[in-house]
Amino acid sequence: AALSAAALHGPLFAQKKIVLGFSQVGAESEWRTANTESIKAAAKDAGIELKFSDAQQKQENQIKAIRAFIAQKVDVIAFSPVVESGWDNVLREAKAAKIPVVLTDRAVNSKDTSLYVTFMGSDFVEEGRKAGRWLVEKMKGQTGEVRIVELQGTVGSAPAIDRKKGFEEIIKADPKFKIVRSQTGDFTRAKGKEVMEAFLKAEGKGINVLYAHNDDMAIGAIQAIEEAGLKPAKDITIISIDAVKGAFEAMIAGKLNVSVECSPLLGPQLMAAVKDIQAGKTIPKRIETVESIFPMETAAAEFPKRKY
Ligand code: AHR
Repeated sequence: AALSAAALHGPLFAQKKIVLGFSQVGAESEWRTANTESIKAAAKDAGIELKFSDAQQKQENQIKAIRAFIAQKVDVIAFSPVVESGWDNVLREAKAAKIPVVLTDRAVNSKDTSLYVTFMGSDFVEEGRKAGRWLVEKMKGQTGEVRIVELQGTVGSAPAIDRKKGFEEIIKADPKFKIVRSQTGDFTRAKGKEVMEAFLKAEGKGINVLYAHNDDMAIGAIQAIEEAGLKPAKDITIISIDAVKGAFEAMIAGKLNVSVECSPLLGPQLMAAVKDIQAGKTIPKRIETVESIFPMETAAAEFPKRKY
């Protein structure tokens, strides 16, 4: 009987696995952990060999990781840039080595968009707008000043810049809204708590609203608010972003008013894009995540459906 080519030549004909180098921001939040899990699981399911590197929130570590991926001649490089600027040189090196680059979750502000194939992730400006619109609606009948404190994400990161911008764009329509303090909490619970303690010390009972750029900082801040003898979500209205399980638990406990969704489940679409790129297909320059918003009243019904 005729033998197939694969049977004759065995491993020689076995398909070579696609190698993907992925540089992750770090493990700063519940969101990030879910994002890492999504990428690792999706790579496994897609049969893609993943070289994963954790930058511990440092751009220099991401640049080093990308250079290492170039030296290893991986097929595709993907990364979630910790900050927006300062990527042109290393991206040019990847381009010179003919290794396609995919941006996931966060964007870069490079003028030369030929330095990456696509950017997949959320519209962070829109997330900020959703937070602002929810607040405007909530405070509709209120005539007095609404004093807001803001916990920003990592300085220079796309989500911190854009979430601030989108929120301000909406609230500026009504002068009763005042951001009285705004500082970074670096997207972590510990920093969120620490900065909220300082806000409370400085403002006393004069804070009406907390706008946190992610759930982890809001959760840290809730602790600070309780320790100061105030009731979160009652004495201070709290808005945050991500809609991770921890936020749903806080909403069900009546301690967080609303969370704007930001999905970390980017793994499957990243692997699909990597395969398409390797197959020479053209993919869209921007792949946007579709997202929602969850006020506390919806939390108990939504919680069982949450995947992160
Ligand atoms: O880039 C996405 C942001 O990074 C998430 O909102 C935040 O939780 C994470 O650390």
